Amino acid sequence: MSEIISGKIISAQINRELRTEVDQLKTKGIEPCLAVVLVGEDPASEVYVRNKKRTCEEIGIRSIGHNLPDTTTQEELETLVQNLNSDPVIHGILCQFPLPGDLDETQVIQTFSPEKDVDGLHPMNAGLIAMGQPRFISCTPYGVLQMLKRSGISTSGKNAVVLGRSNLVGRPIATLLSSKGWDSTVTVCHSRTADLAEVTSKADILIAAIGIPEFVTKNMVKKGAVVIDVGINRIDDPSKTKGSRLVGDVAFEEVEAKASFITTVPGGVGPMTIAMLMVNTVNASRWQNGLTEMNL
Ligand SMILES: NC(=O)c1ccc[n+]([C@@H]2O[C@H](COP(=O)([O-])OP(=O)(O)OC[C@H]3O[C@@H](n4cnc5c(N)ncnc54)[C@H](OP(=O)(O)O)[C@@H]3O)[C@@H](O)[C@H]2O)c1
Repeated sequence: MSEIISGKIISAQINRELRTEVDQLKTKGIEPCLAVVLVGEDPASEVYVRNKKRTCEEIGIRSIGHNLPDTTTQEELETLVQNLNSDPVIHGILCQFPLPGDLDETQVIQTFSPEKDVDGLHPMNAGLIAMGQPRFISCTPYGVLQMLKRSGISTSGKNAVVLGRSNLVGRPIATLLSSKGWDSTVTVCHSRTADLAEVTSKADILIAAIGIPEFVTKNMVKKGAVVIDVGINRIDDPSKTKGSRLVGDVAFEEVEAKASFITTVPGGVGPMTIAMLMVNTVNASRWQNGLTEMNL
């Protein structure tokens, strides 16, 4: 049986540290503030935004919501972002994706001031990660790293295999794990990878971020591997009141028996992603006031 790495417990611990940090910042006259932009009425996005605002409140971060109708044009959205960029009260800007209709996410991301890009999506922040000088690390990859670190898992010299190469998750995780300080030897897999199970079964650390329910089975995992499941997939389950439930990209029950450490879905990487958004917002407020980043 493996040990569970609980994102719920680790994120609660980080949020407690943030609360203390925010209290101290307030004594210096600094109130960390996050602008939260939601376009349209996608129910899943509304839930994510609600959770993020609630966590801000728990920590003492001010959040200012901007709820826009799904008729919003690209120009209107970018004008709002530009206004937030120049508003000195706002330290971080979050725009909840996916955007409805024809709105262009890449274009919106490029409108963010890199200094307020707390989701770490702007090309400048992605480039800094690639150069080994990260400023804002995108929240899910940052959450994965903190889970490893705070569970005492050494990454140095280990074979890490990352399943997925998206700009949001797979690629930054792979880049960070191979960077100085983390020092893993990293293989990135994607939909064209040949002999996938052969590659994944050599991993000391296996990170699944592909978006296919329970794709990673026990034959793909080395005995004693550390398995981090980033995937969030909803599947039908008539036994549940909702008629469905959330599962990850890993077939948890069979892989748990083989792994040394494993995360769950839900309760794994998900809560860590929100906690790291809070960390980035607090750091944004520190940097914008001439202070150094928090020591996590
Ligand atoms: N926990 C959280 O907070 C959080 C945050 C973000 C995302 N997620 C979840 O993480 C998962 C991945 O998200 P994403 O945004 O990275 O997804 P994405 O943009 O769709 O990328 C999926 C990646 O998986 C690869 N892939 C697809 N099928 C594959 C296969 N059969 N074998 C190997 N690789 C395959 C794709 O390869 P190609 O590049 O070749 O197409 C792509 O690189 C989703 O379930 C998402 O909901 C969770």
